[in-house]
Amino acid sequence: MSTVAAESAREHRVTLPTLQRRKRKGEKITMLTAYDFTFAQIFDTAGIDVLLVGDSLGNVIQGENTTLPVTLEESLYHTRLVARGASRALVVADMPFGSYQVSPEDAVRNAIRFVKESGAHAVKLEGGTSMLDTIARIVTCEIPVMGHVGLTPQAIHRMGGHRVQGRGEAGRAKVLADARAVEAAGAFAVVLEGMPIDLAREVTAALSIPTIGIGAGVHCDGQVLVMHDLLGLSGWTPSFVKPFANLGAVASQAARRFAEEVSEQKFPDAEHSYR
Ligand code: KIV
Repeated sequence: MSTVAAESAREHRVTLPTLQRRKRKGEKITMLTAYDFTFAQIFDTAGIDVLLVGDSLGNVIQGENTTLPVTLEESLYHTRLVARGASRALVVADMPFGSYQVSPEDAVRNAIRFVKESGAHAVKLEGGTSMLDTIARIVTCEIPVMGHVGLTPQAIHRMGGHRVQGRGEAGRAKVLADARAVEAAGAFAVVLEGMPIDLAREVTAALSIPTIGIGAGVHCDGQVLVMHDLLGLSGWTPSFVKPFANLGAVASQAARRFAEEVSEQKFPDAEHSYR
């Protein structure tokens, strides 16, 4: 464990000032997605700073092709499980598609549900300039908001797939304007997803709030991965993902050994039976 990670593991609850301080001091922020109590507890104990209940749950938990079908009730449920497992990490609930786009009032009402019913400390939503009013309204209600710009999976149909954003002069200007809008609206941090490394560096230097990158290179103030990609549980992983373990193979091997031992009547043996 590095010194920063060891110190992180000893700290009390990670808060917005903690993350702001990290940016000031140039200490990296770690964020992982989690969707249930068990993994929330494992990542929390490991010293991960932020647990994001991502709407990626549509892909990795529900087996959908996009994040679009995830419902508010499903997100509230998974956030509640994660919040129970996190005693140190900041818990951020990803607002699902349809739960914040209708009107700022509707967004505020739904953000309040994440805090009141699920125990989230903050919410995340996708979009930049178009979401300025919405972010500002939620922040006014004392609910911290994390922004998300660049490749925004809820805009998959507009983008024509999961495509890197911010290429070319107009693309760069749009990402930069979106990130500045998120900061101006009062967000405490912003996810930079799927953009060239030098653009993410420029955005990170331009903002006073922390940037958390995914597929955005090393210069962001922190990094986030989807837990199934981190652990080698996804069938397919994008090129920017580094699997830090191969739990898929371990789980498969355990299931095969179980099946073998059951069919050979080696399990349960005397040691694993009641008398
Ligand atoms: O839903 C999610 O997991 C996310 C991360 C990829 C940032 O938004």
